Amino acid sequence: MIETEAVSTPPLVDLDWWQFRSDERDPLFESLRRDHPRIFVPVGSNPKNGFWALTRHEDVLEVSKRPEDFCSGEGTQIFDQPAKLREYRGSFIDMDNPEHARLRKIVSRGFTSRALSSIRDEIDETVREILDEMPKDGTCDFVTDFAALLPLRIIDNLLGIPREHEAFILEATNILLGAVDPEYVADQSSAGLAAAMTEASEKLVAILNGIAEERIAEPQDDLITRLVAATDAENLTPQEMAKFFILLVGAGNETTRNAISHGLHLLTKNPDQRSKWLSDYDRYAPTAIEEILRVASPVVHMRRTVTRDGVRLGDQEFRKGEKVVLWYGSANRDESVFADPYVFDITRDPNPHLAFGAPGPHFCLGAHLARLEMDVAFRLLFERFPDIHTVGEPDVLRANFLNGIKHLRAEYTAR
Ligand code: HEM
Repeated sequence: MIETEAVSTPPLVDLDWWQFRSDERDPLFESLRRDHPRIFVPVGSNPKNGFWALTRHEDVLEVSKRPEDFCSGEGTQIFDQPAKLREYRGSFIDMDNPEHARLRKIVSRGFTSRALSSIRDEIDETVREILDEMPKDGTCDFVTDFAALLPLRIIDNLLGIPREHEAFILEATNILLGAVDPEYVADQSSAGLAAAMTEASEKLVAILNGIAEERIAEPQDDLITRLVAATDAENLTPQEMAKFFILLVGAGNETTRNAISHGLHLLTKNPDQRSKWLSDYDRYAPTAIEEILRVASPVVHMRRTVTRDGVRLGDQEFRKGEKVVLWYGSANRDESVFADPYVFDITRDPNPHLAFGAPGPHFCLGAHLARLEMDVAFRLLFERFPDIHTVGEPDVLRANFLNGIKHLRAEYTAR
Protein backbone atom coordinates (compact mmCIF):
# COMPACT_ATOMS: atom_id res chain seq x y z
CA MET A 1 0.00 0.00 0.00
CA ILE A 2 1.47 3.38 -1.00
CA GLU A 3 0.91 6.36 1.22
CA THR A 4 0.05 9.57 -0.66
CA GLU A 5 2.92 11.26 1.14
CA ALA A 6 5.37 8.62 -0.08
CA VAL A 7 4.37 9.31 -3.67
CA SER A 8 4.59 13.10 -3.36
CA THR A 9 7.96 12.89 -1.55
CA PRO A 10 9.33 9.50 -2.56
CA PRO A 11 11.85 8.14 -0.04
CA LEU A 12 14.48 7.51 -2.71
CA VAL A 13 17.36 8.73 -0.55
CA ASP A 14 16.10 7.03 2.61
CA LEU A 15 18.48 4.10 3.03
CA ASP A 16 16.15 2.43 5.55
CA TRP A 17 13.49 2.28 2.85
CA TRP A 18 15.99 0.64 0.49
CA GLN A 19 16.39 -2.18 2.99
CA PHE A 20 12.89 -3.40 2.15
CA ARG A 21 12.54 -6.27 -0.31
CA SER A 22 12.11 -5.23 -3.92
CA ASP A 23 8.50 -6.47 -4.03
CA GLU A 24 7.80 -4.04 -1.18
CA ARG A 25 9.43 -1.16 -3.07
CA ASP A 26 7.95 -1.97 -6.48
CA PRO A 27 4.49 -0.46 -5.84
CA LEU A 28 5.99 2.98 -5.21
CA PHE A 29 7.92 2.93 -8.47
CA GLU A 30 4.85 1.63 -10.26
CA SER A 31 2.80 4.58 -9.07
CA LEU A 32 5.62 7.02 -9.92
CA ARG A 33 5.85 5.63 -13.46
CA ARG A 34 2.11 5.93 -13.83
CA ASP A 35 1.35 9.27 -12.12
CA HIS A 36 4.61 11.18 -11.55
CA PRO A 37 7.21 9.90 -14.02
CA ARG A 38 9.39 13.02 -13.59
CA ILE A 39 9.03 14.00 -9.98
CA PHE A 40 11.27 16.44 -8.08
CA VAL A 41 12.72 14.84 -4.95
CA PRO A 42 13.98 17.42 -2.44
CA VAL A 43 17.06 16.53 -0.39
CA GLY A 44 17.49 18.63 2.74
CA SER A 45 16.68 22.33 2.58
CA ASN A 46 18.97 23.29 -0.30
CA PRO A 47 17.06 22.87 -3.60
CA LYS A 48 20.40 22.34 -5.37
CA ASN A 49 20.69 18.98 -3.63
CA GLY A 50 17.33 17.76 -4.92
CA PHE A 51 16.88 15.90 -8.17
CA TRP A 52 14.31 14.92 -10.77
CA ALA A 53 13.58 11.20 -10.54
CA LEU A 54 13.02 9.64 -13.97
CA THR A 55 11.35 6.28 -13.62
CA ARG A 56 10.09 5.43 -17.11
CA HIS A 57 12.04 3.33 -19.60
CA GLU A 58 11.54 5.87 -22.43
CA ASP A 59 12.98 8.75 -20.36
CA VAL A 60 16.04 6.78 -19.25
CA LEU A 61 16.65 5.87 -22.91
CA GLU A 62 16.23 9.43 -24.09
CA VAL A 63 18.44 11.09 -21.46
CA SER A 64 21.24 8.54 -21.93
CA LYS A 65 21.60 9.34 -25.60
CA ARG A 66 21.63 13.15 -25.17
CA PRO A 67 24.90 13.83 -23.32
CA GLU A 68 25.03 17.35 -24.75
CA ASP A 69 21.83 18.14 -22.77
CA PHE A 70 22.29 15.76 -19.82
CA CYS A 71 25.97 15.45 -18.98
CA SER A 72 28.00 13.17 -16.72
CA GLY A 73 30.87 15.57 -16.06
CA GLU A 74 29.20 17.12 -13.00
CA GLY A 75 29.02 13.72 -11.32
CA THR A 76 26.97 10.55 -11.72
CA GLN A 77 25.89 9.94 -8.15
CA ILE A 78 23.05 11.78 -6.45
CA PHE A 79 25.34 13.44 -3.94
CA ASP A 80 28.33 15.39 -5.23
CA GLN A 81 31.56 13.76 -4.15
CA PRO A 82 34.01 15.68 -1.99
CA ALA A 83 36.80 17.28 -4.07
CA LYS A 84 39.45 15.12 -2.43
CA LEU A 85 37.67 11.94 -3.52
CA ARG A 86 37.17 13.18 -7.06
CA GLU A 87 40.93 13.25 -7.32
CA TYR A 88 40.88 9.47 -7.15
CA ARG A 89 37.49 8.58 -8.44
CA GLY A 90 37.20 11.07 -11.30
CA SER A 91 37.51 8.51 -14.07
CA PHE A 92 35.78 8.75 -17.43
CA ILE A 93 32.39 7.61 -16.14
CA ASP A 94 32.25 11.15 -14.68
CA MET A 95 33.49 12.90 -17.84
CA ASP A 96 32.07 14.34 -21.04
CA ASN A 97 33.56 14.66 -24.49
CA PRO A 98 36.17 15.19 -25.73
CA GLU A 99 37.97 13.73 -22.68
CA HIS A 100 35.51 10.86 -22.24
CA ALA A 101 35.85 9.74 -25.86
CA ARG A 102 39.65 9.92 -25.72
CA LEU A 103 39.95 7.77 -22.59
CA ARG A 104 37.20 5.35 -23.53
CA LYS A 105 38.87 4.76 -26.89
CA ILE A 106 42.14 3.84 -25.20
CA VAL A 107 40.68 1.49 -22.60
CA SER A 108 38.25 -0.11 -25.06
CA ARG A 109 41.22 -1.97 -26.51
CA GLY A 110 40.92 -4.39 -23.64
CA PHE A 111 37.15 -4.91 -23.75
CA THR A 112 36.04 -5.56 -27.32
CA SER A 113 34.51 -8.97 -27.87
CA ARG A 114 37.57 -9.81 -29.97
CA ALA A 115 39.94 -8.85 -27.18
CA LEU A 116 37.89 -10.96 -24.80
CA SER A 117 37.47 -13.95 -27.11
CA SER A 118 40.41 -15.71 -25.53
CA ILE A 119 39.30 -15.04 -21.98
CA ARG A 120 36.55 -17.67 -21.81
CA ASP A 121 39.03 -20.42 -20.91
CA GLU A 122 40.52 -18.22 -18.22
CA ILE A 123 37.08 -17.54 -16.71
CA ASP A 124 36.38 -21.26 -16.85
CA GLU A 125 39.59 -22.01 -14.97
CA THR A 126 38.89 -19.31 -12.38
CA VAL A 127 35.37 -20.60 -11.69
CA ARG A 128 36.66 -24.15 -11.26
CA GLU A 129 39.33 -22.92 -8.87
CA ILE A 130 36.74 -21.08 -6.75
CA LEU A 131 34.41 -24.11 -6.78
CA ASP A 132 37.30 -26.30 -5.59
CA GLU A 133 37.77 -23.97 -2.62
CA MET A 134 34.09 -23.94 -1.58
CA PRO A 135 33.32 -25.33 1.89
CA LYS A 136 33.12 -29.10 1.95
CA ASP A 137 30.29 -29.26 4.49
CA GLY A 138 27.68 -28.26 1.91
CA THR A 139 26.86 -24.83 3.24
CA CYS A 140 28.39 -21.52 2.29
CA ASP A 141 27.98 -17.77 2.16
CA PHE A 142 27.37 -17.66 -1.55
CA VAL A 143 28.49 -14.03 -1.81
CA THR A 144 31.83 -14.24 -0.04
CA ASP A 145 32.62 -17.85 -1.04
CA PHE A 146 31.71 -17.57 -4.71
CA ALA A 147 30.05 -14.51 -6.25
CA ALA A 148 32.47 -11.89 -4.93
CA LEU A 149 35.59 -13.85 -5.85
CA LEU A 150 34.85 -14.45 -9.51
CA PRO A 151 34.73 -10.89 -10.92
CA LEU A 152 37.55 -9.86 -8.63
CA ARG A 153 39.90 -12.60 -9.86
CA ILE A 154 38.92 -12.03 -13.47
CA ILE A 155 39.68 -8.32 -13.34
CA ASP A 156 42.89 -8.89 -11.41
CA ASN A 157 44.01 -11.53 -13.94
CA LEU A 158 43.05 -9.34 -16.88
CA LEU A 159 44.96 -6.37 -15.53
CA GLY A 160 47.86 -8.44 -14.23
CA ILE A 161 47.44 -7.72 -10.51
CA PRO A 162 49.18 -10.35 -8.34
CA ARG A 163 46.96 -12.54 -6.10
CA GLU A 164 48.60 -11.18 -2.94
CA HIS A 165 46.49 -7.99 -3.33
CA GLU A 166 43.14 -9.81 -3.66
CA ALA A 167 42.00 -9.54 -0.04
CA PHE A 168 42.74 -5.83 0.15
CA ILE A 169 41.09 -5.08 -3.20
CA LEU A 170 37.97 -6.89 -2.03
CA GLU A 171 37.96 -4.88 1.19
CA ALA A 172 38.50 -1.63 -0.72
CA THR A 173 35.66 -2.46 -3.13
CA ASN A 174 33.31 -2.93 -0.20
CA ILE A 175 34.39 0.37 1.31
CA LEU A 176 34.18 2.36 -1.92
CA LEU A 177 30.78 1.02 -2.96
CA GLY A 178 29.24 0.12 0.34
CA ALA A 179 30.57 2.90 2.56
CA VAL A 180 27.16 3.89 3.87
CA ASP A 181 26.67 0.40 5.24
CA PRO A 182 28.08 0.24 8.80
CA GLU A 183 29.38 -3.30 8.14
CA TYR A 184 32.01 -1.77 5.89
CA VAL A 185 32.62 1.64 7.47
CA ALA A 186 31.96 1.85 11.20
CA ASP A 187 32.23 5.66 11.46
CA GLN A 188 29.20 6.85 9.52
CA SER A 189 29.86 10.60 10.01
CA SER A 190 30.65 12.52 6.79
CA ALA A 191 34.25 12.87 7.94
CA GLY A 192 34.45 9.16 8.75
CA LEU A 193 33.06 8.15 5.37
CA ALA A 194 35.35 10.51 3.47
CA ALA A 195 38.38 9.30 5.46
CA ALA A 196 37.63 5.61 4.86
CA MET A 197 37.04 6.11 1.15
CA THR A 198 40.11 8.29 0.73
CA GLU A 199 42.32 5.78 2.54
CA ALA A 200 41.01 2.87 0.45
CA SER A 201 41.53 4.87 -2.75
CA GLU A 202 45.05 5.92 -1.78
CA LYS A 203 46.06 2.33 -1.09
CA LEU A 204 44.57 1.14 -4.39
CA VAL A 205 46.46 3.87 -6.24
CA ALA A 206 49.70 2.86 -4.50
CA ILE A 207 49.21 -0.79 -5.57
CA LEU A 208 48.44 0.24 -9.13
CA ASN A 209 51.29 2.72 -9.42
CA GLY A 210 53.77 0.12 -8.27
CA ILE A 211 52.58 -2.37 -10.87
CA ALA A 212 52.39 0.24 -13.66
CA GLU A 213 56.00 1.24 -13.04
CA GLU A 214 57.05 -2.41 -13.20
CA ARG A 215 55.17 -2.89 -16.48
CA ILE A 216 56.71 0.19 -18.06
CA ALA A 217 60.15 -1.14 -17.11
CA GLU A 218 59.33 -4.71 -18.03
CA PRO A 219 56.23 -5.18 -20.23
CA GLN A 220 54.04 -8.24 -19.65
CA ASP A 221 51.12 -9.78 -21.51
CA ASP A 222 48.42 -7.98 -19.51
CA LEU A 223 46.02 -5.07 -19.79
CA ILE A 224 48.00 -2.67 -17.62
CA THR A 225 50.95 -3.09 -19.99
CA ARG A 226 48.69 -2.57 -23.01
CA LEU A 227 47.20 0.59 -21.52
CA VAL A 228 50.28 2.30 -20.10
CA ALA A 229 53.15 0.95 -22.17
CA ALA A 230 51.85 0.24 -25.69
CA THR A 231 54.41 1.20 -28.29
CA ASP A 232 51.96 1.50 -31.18
CA ALA A 233 49.06 3.49 -29.68
CA GLU A 234 48.19 6.29 -27.27
CA ASN A 235 48.63 5.33 -23.62
CA LEU A 236 47.00 6.29 -20.36
CA THR A 237 49.14 8.33 -17.99
CA PRO A 238 49.83 6.46 -14.74
CA GLN A 239 47.37 8.82 -13.02
CA GLU A 240 44.65 8.05 -15.58
CA MET A 241 45.38 4.34 -15.22
CA ALA A 242 44.99 4.59 -11.43
CA LYS A 243 41.59 6.26 -11.77
CA PHE A 244 40.52 3.68 -14.31
CA PHE A 245 41.59 0.94 -11.93
CA ILE A 246 39.46 2.40 -9.15
CA LEU A 247 36.54 2.67 -11.57
CA LEU A 248 36.97 -0.96 -12.61
CA VAL A 249 37.25 -2.17 -9.05
CA GLY A 250 33.79 -0.77 -8.41
CA ALA A 251 32.11 -0.98 -11.78
CA GLY A 252 33.27 -4.49 -12.56
CA ASN A 253 33.33 -6.25 -9.20
CA GLU A 254 30.31 -5.30 -7.15
CA THR A 255 27.93 -5.25 -10.09
CA THR A 256 28.76 -8.72 -11.39
CA ARG A 257 28.89 -10.13 -7.85
CA ASN A 258 25.36 -8.87 -7.23
CA ALA A 259 24.06 -10.12 -10.57
CA ILE A 260 25.32 -13.64 -9.78
CA SER A 261 23.99 -13.58 -6.21
CA HIS A 262 20.57 -12.29 -7.25
CA GLY A 263 20.61 -14.87 -10.02
CA LEU A 264 20.95 -17.85 -7.69
CA HIS A 265 18.32 -16.41 -5.36
CA LEU A 266 15.87 -15.80 -8.22
CA LEU A 267 16.38 -19.34 -9.49
CA THR A 268 15.79 -20.72 -5.99
CA LYS A 269 12.59 -18.70 -5.61
CA ASN A 270 11.39 -19.77 -9.05
CA PRO A 271 12.01 -23.54 -9.21
CA ASP A 272 10.07 -23.91 -12.46
CA GLN A 273 12.44 -21.47 -14.17
CA ARG A 274 15.44 -23.20 -12.69
CA SER A 275 14.27 -26.63 -13.92
CA LYS A 276 13.62 -25.22 -17.34
CA TRP A 277 17.11 -23.71 -17.59
CA LEU A 278 18.81 -26.85 -16.31
CA SER A 279 16.84 -28.98 -18.76
CA ASP A 280 18.85 -27.39 -21.57
CA TYR A 281 21.47 -24.95 -20.27
CA ASP A 282 22.75 -23.74 -23.64
CA ARG A 283 19.33 -23.17 -25.10
CA TYR A 284 18.12 -20.94 -22.28
CA ALA A 285 21.38 -19.31 -21.15
CA PRO A 286 21.23 -16.20 -23.38
CA THR A 287 17.72 -15.19 -22.33
CA ALA A 288 18.10 -16.39 -18.72
CA ILE A 289 21.14 -14.16 -18.21
CA GLU A 290 19.32 -11.11 -19.61
CA GLU A 291 16.34 -11.82 -17.36
CA ILE A 292 18.55 -12.06 -14.28
CA LEU A 293 20.11 -8.73 -15.25
CA ARG A 294 16.69 -7.13 -15.76
CA VAL A 295 15.22 -8.30 -12.49
CA ALA A 296 18.38 -7.78 -10.44
CA SER A 297 19.22 -4.35 -11.95
CA PRO A 298 22.50 -4.36 -9.98
CA VAL A 299 23.07 -0.63 -10.58
CA VAL A 300 20.00 1.10 -9.20
CA HIS A 301 20.57 4.55 -10.63
CA MET A 302 22.98 6.94 -12.34
CA ARG A 303 22.74 10.70 -12.40
CA ARG A 304 23.06 13.28 -15.14
CA THR A 305 23.13 17.11 -14.92
CA VAL A 306 21.23 19.47 -17.20
CA THR A 307 23.72 21.48 -19.28
CA ARG A 308 21.66 24.59 -20.17
CA ASP A 309 18.38 26.35 -19.47
CA GLY A 310 15.46 25.19 -21.57
CA VAL A 311 16.46 21.54 -22.08
CA ARG A 312 13.25 19.61 -22.69
CA LEU A 313 12.21 16.05 -22.04
CA GLY A 314 8.67 15.38 -23.22
CA ASP A 315 6.56 18.25 -21.95
CA GLN A 316 8.97 19.15 -19.18
CA GLU A 317 11.57 21.91 -19.29
CA PHE A 318 14.67 21.86 -17.11
CA ARG A 319 17.13 24.48 -15.92
CA LYS A 320 20.90 24.42 -16.17
CA GLY A 321 22.49 22.60 -13.25
CA GLU A 322 19.44 20.56 -12.30
CA LYS A 323 20.12 16.91 -11.51
CA VAL A 324 18.18 14.12 -13.16
CA VAL A 325 18.44 10.59 -11.82
CA LEU A 326 17.84 7.56 -14.02
CA TRP A 327 16.22 4.74 -12.01
CA TYR A 328 17.23 1.63 -13.94
CA GLY A 329 15.39 -0.83 -11.71
CA SER A 330 12.16 1.06 -12.34
CA ALA A 331 12.76 1.36 -16.09
CA ASN A 332 13.35 -2.41 -16.12
CA ARG A 333 9.88 -2.98 -14.65
CA ASP A 334 8.11 -0.50 -16.92
CA GLU A 335 4.84 -2.20 -17.82
CA SER A 336 4.64 -0.30 -21.12
CA VAL A 337 7.77 -2.18 -22.26
CA PHE A 338 7.79 -5.45 -20.32
CA ALA A 339 4.70 -7.69 -20.16
CA ASP A 340 4.22 -9.02 -16.61
CA PRO A 341 7.26 -7.09 -15.39
CA TYR A 342 7.29 -8.71 -11.95
CA VAL A 343 7.43 -12.22 -13.38
CA PHE A 344 10.89 -13.80 -13.63
CA ASP A 345 10.75 -15.48 -17.03
CA ILE A 346 14.01 -16.92 -18.35
CA THR A 347 12.57 -17.11 -21.87
CA ARG A 348 11.64 -13.40 -22.02
CA ASP A 349 12.49 -12.19 -25.52
CA PRO A 350 12.84 -9.39 -26.48
CA ASN A 351 14.20 -8.07 -23.21
CA PRO A 352 15.37 -4.48 -23.76
CA HIS A 353 16.47 -4.01 -20.14
CA LEU A 354 18.72 -1.13 -19.16
CA ALA A 355 20.78 -2.89 -16.49
CA PHE A 356 24.00 -1.85 -18.27
CA GLY A 357 22.65 1.66 -18.83
CA ALA A 358 20.92 2.71 -22.02
CA PRO A 359 22.66 3.04 -25.38
CA GLY A 360 24.79 6.16 -25.29
CA PRO A 361 28.41 7.14 -24.73
CA HIS A 362 28.54 5.74 -21.20
CA PHE A 363 26.95 2.36 -21.90
CA CYS A 364 28.72 -0.21 -19.72
CA LEU A 365 32.18 -1.00 -21.02
CA GLY A 366 32.15 -4.41 -19.34
CA ALA A 367 28.74 -5.66 -20.52
CA HIS A 368 30.24 -8.37 -22.70
CA LEU A 369 32.62 -9.50 -19.97
CA ALA A 370 29.86 -9.53 -17.33
CA ARG A 371 27.59 -11.68 -19.51
CA LEU A 372 30.45 -14.08 -20.17
CA GLU A 373 31.25 -14.37 -16.46
CA MET A 374 27.60 -15.02 -15.61
CA ASP A 375 27.31 -17.69 -18.29
CA VAL A 376 30.41 -19.59 -17.16
CA ALA A 377 29.56 -19.12 -13.47
CA PHE A 378 26.06 -20.65 -13.65
CA ARG A 379 27.10 -23.36 -16.09
CA LEU A 380 29.90 -24.67 -13.86
CA LEU A 381 28.08 -24.02 -10.61
CA PHE A 382 25.14 -26.22 -11.63
CA GLU A 383 27.47 -28.79 -13.16
CA ARG A 384 29.37 -29.13 -9.86
CA PHE A 385 26.49 -28.63 -7.42
CA PRO A 386 23.22 -29.35 -9.27
CA ASP A 387 21.14 -28.93 -6.11
CA ILE A 388 22.68 -25.66 -4.88
CA HIS A 389 20.02 -23.29 -3.58
CA THR A 390 19.83 -20.27 -1.35
CA VAL A 391 18.42 -20.46 2.17
CA GLY A 392 16.50 -17.61 3.77
CA GLU A 393 16.54 -14.03 2.62
CA PRO A 394 19.66 -12.14 1.50
CA ASP A 395 21.43 -9.75 3.84
CA VAL A 396 21.19 -6.65 1.68
CA LEU A 397 23.58 -3.75 1.37
CA ARG A 398 22.41 -0.51 2.95
CA ALA A 399 22.50 1.56 -0.22
CA ASN A 400 20.39 3.10 -2.97
CA PHE A 401 23.09 3.05 -5.66
CA LEU A 402 23.69 -0.68 -5.87
CA ASN A 403 21.18 -3.47 -5.43
CA GLY A 404 23.75 -5.20 -3.29
CA ILE A 405 23.74 -8.48 -1.41
CA LYS A 406 26.35 -8.73 1.32
CA HIS A 407 25.64 -12.27 2.45
CA LEU A 408 23.46 -15.09 1.19
CA ARG A 409 23.42 -18.57 2.66
CA ALA A 410 23.40 -21.44 0.21
CA GLU A 411 23.31 -25.22 0.64
CA TYR A 412 24.41 -27.96 -1.72
CA THR A 413 25.51 -31.56 -1.76
CA ALA A 414 29.27 -31.28 -1.61
CA ARG A 415 31.25 -33.49 -3.95
C1 HEM B 1 26.34 -7.21 -14.20
C2 HEM B 1 27.38 -6.44 -14.22
C3 HEM B 1 27.38 -4.98 -14.58
C4 HEM B 1 26.37 -4.05 -14.57
C5 HEM B 1 24.93 -4.26 -14.17
C6 HEM B 1 26.94 -2.78 -14.99
C7 HEM B 1 26.23 -1.61 -15.12
C8 HEM B 1 26.76 -0.41 -15.57
C9 HEM B 1 26.03 0.83 -15.68
C10 HEM B 1 24.55 1.01 -15.34
C11 HEM B 1 26.88 1.77 -16.16
C12 HEM B 1 26.57 3.25 -16.41
C13 HEM B 1 25.93 3.49 -17.76
C14 HEM B 1 25.59 4.94 -17.99
O1 HEM B 1 25.94 5.81 -17.20
O2 HEM B 1 24.95 5.20 -19.01
C15 HEM B 1 28.17 1.14 -16.33
C16 HEM B 1 29.30 1.77 -16.76
C17 HEM B 1 30.54 1.19 -16.77
N1 HEM B 1 30.84 -0.14 -16.52
FE1 HEM B 1 29.54 -1.59 -16.02
N2 HEM B 1 28.27 -2.98 -15.25
C18 HEM B 1 28.58 -4.30 -15.02
C19 HEM B 1 29.80 -4.92 -15.19
C20 HEM B 1 30.95 -4.29 -15.57
C21 HEM B 1 32.23 -4.92 -15.74
C22 HEM B 1 32.51 -6.41 -15.57
C23 HEM B 1 33.12 -3.93 -16.08
C24 HEM B 1 34.58 -4.01 -16.39
C25 HEM B 1 35.38 -4.94 -16.14
C26 HEM B 1 32.38 -2.68 -16.14
C27 HEM B 1 32.93 -1.47 -16.46
C28 HEM B 1 32.21 -0.29 -16.63
C29 HEM B 1 32.81 0.97 -16.99
C30 HEM B 1 34.29 1.23 -17.19
C31 HEM B 1 31.77 1.91 -17.08
C32 HEM B 1 31.88 3.37 -17.46
C33 HEM B 1 31.64 3.53 -18.95
C34 HEM B 1 31.72 4.97 -19.45
O3 HEM B 1 31.44 5.89 -18.68
O4 HEM B 1 32.07 5.15 -20.63
N3 HEM B 1 31.07 -2.93 -15.82
N4 HEM B 1 28.07 -0.19 -15.98
